[in-house]
Amino acid sequence: MPSPVRTLRGRALSPSRESPSLERWDDALIEIDELGRITSIAAAPPGCPVAVSHPGCVLMPGLVDVHLHFPQTRVIGSAAGPLLEWLERSVFPEEARFAEPLYASAVATEFCDAMIAQGTTCAAIYSSSHPIATELLFGELDRRGLRATVGPALMDRNAPAEVLLAAEPALAACAALIQRWHGHDRGRLRMSIVPRFALSCSAALMRGAADLAAEHGLWIQTHIAENHAEIEATAQAFPAAKDYLAVYEDHGLVGARTILAHCIWLSDSEWDRVAAAEATVAHCPDSNFFLGSGRMALGHASRRGIEVGLGTDIGAGRSFSVRRIAASAYDNALIVGAPASAEALLWLATTGGARAIGLGEVVGRLAVGFDADVIAVPLPPVDDAGLVDALIFRHDAPPVEATYVRGLRV
Ligand code: GUN
Ligand code: FE
Repeated sequence: MPSPVRTLRGRALSPSRESPSLERWDDALIEIDELGRITSIAAAPPGCPVAVSHPGCVLMPGLVDVHLHFPQTRVIGSAAGPLLEWLERSVFPEEARFAEPLYASAVATEFCDAMIAQGTTCAAIYSSSHPIATELLFGELDRRGLRATVGPALMDRNAPAEVLLAAEPALAACAALIQRWHGHDRGRLRMSIVPRFALSCSAALMRGAADLAAEHGLWIQTHIAENHAEIEATAQAFPAAKDYLAVYEDHGLVGARTILAHCIWLSDSEWDRVAAAEATVAHCPDSNFFLGSGRMALGHASRRGIEVGLGTDIGAGRSFSVRRIAASAYDNALIVGAPASAEALLWLATTGGARAIGLGEVVGRLAVGFDADVIAVPLPPVDDAGLVDALIFRHDAPPVEATYVRGLRV
C-alpha cells in the first residue's frame, strides 16, 4: 500500500465550519498521519526545513461534486434539451452502451481522469442501470484513490429496454454491490441507492429501494422538480400523491440520508418537508441553464437550514469543474435577485458539499482530524483580496496542479 505524504507546505485556504467565512494562511505547514489525516495545520515556523510543496499554488480542500452521471461522460454538451427530449435523444442511447464491459471500463478511466484534473476528490455518482458498469466504476475509483458514493440508476419503466432492469434483479444486484463495495477502504467508497426519478421507477422498485437503503443505512439519490413537463408527467403517473415530493415520501425515500437534485420548482410545503426530513439538496445551476430547466433560489434552502452542495450534473452540466459550477451558481443567484459571494460559493463547493452527503466531519476543510483531501491550484496573478473571486471566475486559468486524497496523490 502506498503511504501518504506526511507534510504539505504553502499558501493555504480553507472554509471554516460555518459559511461563508474562510481561513487563510500565507505559509501553512500541514502535518498528516499514516492514515492520511491532518494532525496539525499552522503557520510554518521560521527556518522550517520542509520545502514549499507546490510553488506558485494555493492549497485548499478537494472539491466535492454532489451530483453527476458517470455514463454521460461522452455526451457532455449534447444540446438536445429540454429534459425529457434530451433523455430520450442523447442520454438513454448512450447509457445503453454501458451494458458492454469494455465500453464501460474505457469511460470509467476517462471519468476519473476528468474528476482528478479538476480537483474533485469526492463525488456522489449515478452509474448506468447496469450492475457490471457499476462494478467496473467502483473498481476504477478504487484504483485511482478517489472518494465516492455510487449506485446504479434504478429504472424499470418508461425508457428503452436496454437501460431497464426489473425491480427484483436490480435490487439483488444492489445487494451484491453493497457486500463488495460499501464502506470499502475505511469508507472511502460507499454504495448508494439511486431510484433515477419517479418517472423511471415502478412503486415496487421505489419501495424495495427504500427498504434496502434503510437496512444498510445507505444514502439515497434522486432527481426532483427539474422541469415542468417532468412534473406534469409525474403527477399523471402518481395521481394519489399530493405533489412531487409526496411520491418519494409515500415510498419511504425521503429522510436524513436523501440527496435531492435540482429542486427548482418545489412548493413552500415541499421545501418545508425537505427541511423537516433533513434531506439535502444538490444544486446544479449549469445543468439547469443548459437544459433550460429553470433557476433554483438558494434562499429556499438556506432560510430553512437545509444542507446544499454543488453538482456538475455531468452530462447536462458542461464541465467537471466544480469551480465552474460555483461560477454558474453565482450567475444564478444574481438572476434570482439574491446575490451570493464567491466565499459562500467556495464554501458550498467544499464543506457544504461534504455536509450534504454526510461527510462534513471527514472532508471539505483543512483542519485537524479531517482527511487530507487537498488540491494545489495555480495562484492567479491577483492580490489577496481578489484571490477567491479569481479562483472561481477565471475560467481560462490552468486546472489544478495536484490532487490528494488522504495525502495520497491521485
Ligand atoms: N432526471 C432523470 N434523469 C436525469 C438525468 O440523467 N439528468 C438530469 N439532469 N435529470 C434527470
Ligand atoms: Fe442528474
